[in-house]
Amino acid sequence: MTDWLSMLLLVLLAVAIIALGWWLLIATEGVYLGRRIVIWLYDLFAHRYDRVKNYYREYEHMYLAQPIMERIAPHRSPLVLDVATGTGRLPLALLRHAHFQGRVIGLDLSRRMLHQATQNLYVFEDRVTFIWGSAENLPFPDDTFDVVTCLEALEFMVRPQAVLGELARVLRPGGLLLISQRINTRLMPGKTWSSGQILELLARCGVEDAQAQIWQVDYRKIWGYKTGSSPAAGARPLDEVLRCPRCRSGLMKQREQSWFCDSCGARAVIGADGVIELFPVER
Ligand SMILES: C[S@@+](CC[C@H](N)C(=O)[O-])C[C@H]1O[C@@H](n2cnc3c(N)ncnc32)[C@H](O)[C@@H]1O
Repeated sequence: MTDWLSMLLLVLLAVAIIALGWWLLIATEGVYLGRRIVIWLYDLFAHRYDRVKNYYREYEHMYLAQPIMERIAPHRSPLVLDVATGTGRLPLALLRHAHFQGRVIGLDLSRRMLHQATQNLYVFEDRVTFIWGSAENLPFPDDTFDVVTCLEALEFMVRPQAVLGELARVLRPGGLLLISQRINTRLMPGKTWSSGQILELLARCGVEDAQAQIWQVDYRKIWGYKTGSSPAAGARPLDEVLRCPRCRSGLMKQREQSWFCDSCGARAVIGADGVIELFPVER
């Protein structure tokens, strides 16, 4: 083989490896490589996430907080769970809303994204709690929350259907669900759902009257209500709703800088930034 031909093949190989690496790690955020890689990437880029996303405060109010408040009106003090909260985007939008008087729990598996969230929301620290935990095993009893949200995250999860089931499980009958549907599907084969698929999956989880709504370039919002009705949970304290992720039966109670399971004795520490570290307990 001539020298120039070998050189050309080497260049083509290098380009193919770089393109594959870009697709696996950047474009699809590690989802084809497993949950550990996804979370490792979020941990790695947590300090830059908000700068890259650069969400406008007015849009977050107009397209997230205000429509949630309208859908739950006249109730103003709901108990809200934001799954895969990242740097606290949804809690921030809600807590900045002048009429919101509820409590928000933000859960995520990236410890560093949560650290950023605590920085972003330190002025609201008495009304928001961040939990390091996995969306596949939500540490709450059935039928707990008035509102459950999960934005820009399902497509980066390895078991999105199981997560959808968890979101619906912890929502109280009559409660409001808000998730996002990825509509830019070009680079993520097998990881996104059509509107028909998503509405069918939601119906199977007991979420009815789901409706898709235009939102961002890459996403639609999907709204739905859990079948049935029940009294509003309201801004209940955390020790009434935090369930042990290990035994899944006991409730967690706070003692000084830790939370303990009143059934199996499992212990979760509270980080220096206030994040409740449940994930090590789950493993
Ligand atoms: C694109 S960010 C979205 C963050 C936030 N919801 C927003 O709209 O800005 C995706 C988030 O999902 C989280 N995530 C991915 N897989 C998860 C899982 N299995 N359990 C909990 N969080 C997860 C990541 O750590 C990351 O913070």
